[in-house]
Order: sequence, then C-alpha cells, then structure tokens
Amino acid sequence: MKLLEDRIRQDGTVLPGNVLKVDNFLNHQVDPQLMDQLGAEFARRFADAGITKILTVESSGIAPAVMTGLHLQVPVIFARKHKSLTLTDHLYTAKVFSYTKQVNNDISIDRRFLNPDDRVLIIDDFLANGQAVQGLLDIARTAQIEVAGVGVVIEKRFQKGHKMVIDAGIQLEALASIAAFENNTVTFAED
Ligand code: G4P
Ligand code: NA
Ligand code: NA
Repeated sequence: MKLLEDRIRQDGTVLPGNVLKVDNFLNHQVDPQLMDQLGAEFARRFADAGITKILTVESSGIAPAVMTGLHLQVPVIFARKHKSLTLTDHLYTAKVFSYTKQVNNDISIDRRFLNPDDRVLIIDDFLANGQAVQGLLDIARTAQIEVAGVGVVIEKRFQKGHKMVIDAGIQLEALASIAAFENNTVTFAED
C-alpha cells in the first residue's frame, strides 16, 4: 500500500536490532485518518472471507483492528496480556514469547466472546517472529473456530512470522512488507 510505504519512509526510523520505530503514527501517537484508510484496505482484501469477528492483541493492534471492524461491521476482541494467570476457567489462554523484550506473557480471551460458528480475522500492527499471531491461532484452535485470514500493518518478511502463517495455509495480507533494512533505510518487498 503506497500511502503506508510513503508514511514509513517519511516518519519511520530504523533502530539497531532490525526494529522499525513508527511511534508517531502507530505505536504511541496514532493517526486516526491513516488507521481508517488501513482498516478500509483490510476490509477490501477480506471482503469475501465471511469474517464474523476480528481478533488482536493489546495494545498496538487495537487501533488498526477497530478500524477494520468498523469497515467490515463486525466486533473486535483484543486478547489481554498478563504476566502469568491463575483462575483461568472462564478464559482461553496461550503463551506468547516476545523476542524483542525476552519475556513470556500469557494472553487471554474470555470464552463468552468466541463461538464455534465464528470465522475470525487476526489483525496486528507488526508481524515479526509471529509469536502474537501464533498465540491467537492457539486460542482459535482451542475454541474450535476458523481463522479466515491474518492482516498485519507491517511485516518484516525476513523474520519467521511470514513463513509460519503461509505454511499454515492462511491468507496473509501485509499492507507494507519490508524485505530488508539496509544502511538505516527500509527496502520494501516488490510483490
Ligand atoms: P511477534 O509477535 O511477531 O513474534 O513479535 P516479537 O515477539 O518479535 O516482538 C514483540 C513486540 O515487538 C510486539 O509488540 C511486536 O509487535 C513488536 N515488534 C516487532 N518488531 C517490531 C518492529 O520492527 N518495530 C516495532 N515498532 N515493533 C515491533 P508488543 O510487545 O505486543 O507490544 P504492543 O502491541 O503493546 O505495542
Ligand atoms: Na503488537
Ligand atoms: Na508493538
């Protein structure tokens, strides 16, 4: 999506460790008009997928997920993050390891928000190693609901998450796809 690539070129900074800082429109300050356009684009790409709900993880997935839900006219559920959980009977939970922060988190969704006849779309801000998406896939499997697609605002195609989603046979839509960081600049994938 050219609009998003231009915004990344303009406002993104490449940090050591292959991290793209985009905290003035996505990860801290949020640009609502841009989020609306991203949501419309996800809705267009998944228009025929029969989506009934959107799943994301707090916190940075929420803005693009809510805008996508607005355009698809379906509810949005964000999994909550916890250090470790007790009393989990009413929850679906999964473990998520963050490579960037080197910590294990549990994520959870209340059972009453997922039904076996749901077809969900997973939306997130970044696809890097795919741990957050894997956690949501684990929850979907436990809840016996179908995952119709994964939409990410920015994927770093050279990390593990892209291949993991493709190998799972799930439709993956990235609105900006980064092939590499070279000399502190972003190279986008051609396709
Ligand atoms: P993964 O889910 O793809 O495995 O991500 P990973 O564990 O590698 O990264 C952990 C956190 O860092 C995630 O946010 C993820 O979205 C974010 N992240 C990964 N790569 C980048 C990057 O290049 N730039 C930025 N800005 N973030 C990146 P999180 O811990 O879930 O935090 P948040 O959702 O509360 O923001
Ligand atoms: Na995230
Ligand atoms: Na993040």
